[in-house]
Amino acid sequence: MQASVVAFGAWAIGGWKWGGSDAQASVEAVRASLDAGVDLIDTAAVYGFGLSEEIVGKAIEGRPREDIIVATKCGLRWDIETSTLHAESEGKRIFRTLEPTSIRWEIEQSLARLGTDYIDLYQTHWPDPATDIESVVDTFEALKAEGLIRAWGLCNESPEQLAAAAKLGSLATDQERYSLLDREQDDANLPLCEEQDIGFLCYSPIAQGLLSGQIDSRRQFAEGDLRIGNPRFSPAVLDAIQAVLAPVKALARDRGDTVEQLVLAWTLEQPGVSHVLVGTRDVEQAAANALAGSVELDDDEMAMISQAAAAWPGFAQLS
Ligand SMILES: NC(=O)c1ccc[n+]([C@@H]2O[C@H](COP(=O)([O-])OP(=O)(O)OC[C@H]3O[C@@H](n4cnc5c(N)ncnc54)[C@H](OP(=O)(O)O)[C@@H]3O)[C@@H](O)[C@H]2O)c1
Repeated sequence: MQASVVAFGAWAIGGWKWGGSDAQASVEAVRASLDAGVDLIDTAAVYGFGLSEEIVGKAIEGRPREDIIVATKCGLRWDIETSTLHAESEGKRIFRTLEPTSIRWEIEQSLARLGTDYIDLYQTHWPDPATDIESVVDTFEALKAEGLIRAWGLCNESPEQLAAAAKLGSLATDQERYSLLDREQDDANLPLCEEQDIGFLCYSPIAQGLLSGQIDSRRQFAEGDLRIGNPRFSPAVLDAIQAVLAPVKALARDRGDTVEQLVLAWTLEQPGVSHVLVGTRDVEQAAANALAGSVELDDDEMAMISQAAAAWPGFAQLS
């Protein structure tokens, strides 16, 4: 399966944790991305408690299904209780489970919300300590044999579990947080993905908007936005980030690109990285993010961007 290197990240359009979303603007953002050549959309059942999948379903309705790669995730339930509480949010308790009957129940819900009869890439959202990896692989392989999914992957996994899953079945992808400022995966899952040709999908590749260079200490976030209270978005850090990004901003100006395009292009050049999933809220962001896939950086430009980030090693400790 081949997909555009820049993917539409559909978490924010679900509104949950992002201060809400506008349904029409979200549908238009997805369509603008598809029109600009992005053909991979990453959503999840839990994003907006089904809303993100519904918006994606609406946006792709009437388009040739075979031209779009729909990726979604299972394993976080807000309608039942299990032994592992994942989070409490907006009055809901979200539990982890990858138990076979739960995955089968979840895929039916996701297919209905997405308005499709198959999912191109089905992923675990978070590991479930109560279900072993053999069981997860068996369930996914069965769904694949039944034609309900074309491929499967894991998210938020350790290198050990990833290696085990790759041995047991046809693991296609791993999805982890990775950006210019979040490099933990360089020594964790990336080497294995590169060695075994497993797609590596970077989430939060512009550090939830920080690396767009457009958020400074004057930015007001809407109520419910996960960036409120996050130390990475405190006024002092926002100002420090502007200083870190100053050389990247200058380079972007010289080249006629935007900061996030250079950051995404840099990310796509890292060994083992295959795709960046960029959270996109409107048509302007859709157009800018899609173009990042065709930005080419030379060795000096790559080194300059790496050096800019290295100026602030303390960032990774903030979360
Ligand atoms: N598997 C997992 O556990 C997991 C976890 C997190 C994310 N993900 C996936 O990865 C995707 C991306 O991650 P993310 O949404 O956390 O972070 P991100 O892509 O680093 O940042 C997204 C945010 O940056 C801002 N932005 C996007 N494009 C922009 C542009 N061109 N110019 C200026 N600002 C721009 C938008 O926020 P504002 O406009 O409000 O500033 C947007 O919501 C998600 O949508 C989801 O599909 C997966």
